[in-house]
Amino acid sequence: MEKNQKKPVTAIVLGASGRGKLYGDYALEHPEDLQIIGIAELVELRRTLYGDKYQVPMENRVATWEELLARPKFADTVIIATPDHLHYAPCMKALDLGYDILLEKPIAQTEEECRRLVAYAEEKGNIVCLTHVLRYSPYFLMLKELVQSGAIGDLISIQHFEPVDHVHMAHSYVRGSWRQADKSTPLVLAKSSHDLDILHWIIGSRCKRTVAFGSLSHFKKENAPEGAPLRCTDGCPAESTCPYSALKIYYRDRTWLYVFDLPEEAEKQGDVILENLKSGLYGRCVYHCDNDQPDHYMMLMEFEKEVTVNFSIEAFTSYSGRRTRIMGTRGDIVGDMEEFTHTDFVSGKQKVYNANAMDALNYEGVGHGGGDMGMIRDWIEAVRTQNSKVMSTPLNESLESHLIAFAAERSRKENKVIEI
Ligand SMILES: NC(=O)c1ccc[n+]([C@@H]2O[C@H](COP(=O)([O-])OP(=O)(O)OC[C@H]3O[C@@H](n4cnc5c(N)ncnc54)[C@H](O)[C@@H]3O)[C@@H](O)[C@H]2O)c1
Repeated sequence: MEKNQKKPVTAIVLGASGRGKLYGDYALEHPEDLQIIGIAELVELRRTLYGDKYQVPMENRVATWEELLARPKFADTVIIATPDHLHYAPCMKALDLGYDILLEKPIAQTEEECRRLVAYAEEKGNIVCLTHVLRYSPYFLMLKELVQSGAIGDLISIQHFEPVDHVHMAHSYVRGSWRQADKSTPLVLAKSSHDLDILHWIIGSRCKRTVAFGSLSHFKKENAPEGAPLRCTDGCPAESTCPYSALKIYYRDRTWLYVFDLPEEAEKQGDVILENLKSGLYGRCVYHCDNDQPDHYMMLMEFEKEVTVNFSIEAFTSYSGRRTRIMGTRGDIVGDMEEFTHTDFVSGKQKVYNANAMDALNYEGVGHGGGDMGMIRDWIEAVRTQNSKVMSTPLNESLESHLIAFAAERSRKENKVIEI
């Protein structure tokens, strides 16, 4: 047993972009834990770079997930890091083949598919981890522990705020992969299944009903500056004063570059970025895109035990980092994802919990407030020991956040309160 536990878990990865690379990097740093032995990626250059960097055998580098999953099972696990619309089909197929699975969120694009997938995973008994990584971030772990310790008395109400940041909004939900709800998933699921999951997890009960408002107010053609062409690279008269200028974001500031397949040499990168901006998704004027996601979104929720929550997703902020206020009968908590302050109503004493200091207490990790690393570790442990209880994110629990999100979308579109 001891010997077995030391064997690396082998994985095939579907999708070699941002998320796929995260798992590749983990495997490079922790070869004793994880070994990537297959890659399916549509973009040839990306596939080659990935295969070379993470030493994937040549015979297991293919273009599509269908090709890799047409083979008999040849690894312990499948990591599904394809776009949102390609989660359900590969996951169902991988379940059929008997793979344990790391499934990027969201589970699937529709409520029906989500329910079907979760039921099928339960029937098959494979280990499936959905990447709700915030459950592993030191910040939210401590927040949950504090609430559940009774330190604020009975939990009464929460205000939770997700400031997306205007550049992030333009990148992902106006120009980028999540710009159309039907082709990916609605904003409230794509951006905020994490938040809905965290709320459900901290409160510890189910959401009974919800109502949502929100719309696409700004990123549409009637708001384009006069004379703005379709691309920022086509001599836009407003380019130098536009906060969403692609030339500013990608070329001058060199931010959000993970979407471009850039050469290693810094001096060659500028030309590749410019070429991409002239023809690809990210050079388009934000007022002339084919986007339909709302740029402001507000929800009210009522959970069991009369706990009320208001939650908003806002594009127009200069900052990111979730803000949360938790109100209890004997104290409250105010936090910004870096640190939170607990105030006790009786003593008036305040205590500040700092997420960076928490890292020193053995919570460790990279992205998502430190959550990514903890999640990968637990998932590997779950696969090794064939015990899904090791993970903090059971799939049927993850489903809750999705059901809330689908209900919110119905509420927003049908203009009524939805019972869940
Ligand atoms: N857990 C989180 O917090 C978190 C964070 C970001 C993204 N995500 C989710 O992870 C997934 C991947 O995100 P990303 O940013 O890496 O997305 P991405 O769109 O940049 O990458 C997806 C990759 O899949 C490839 N691909 C497309 N069709 C394919 C096919 N048929 N076969 C094989 N490969 C195919 C694409 O070429 C691309 O390289 C998305 O569903 C996203 O919502 C989760």
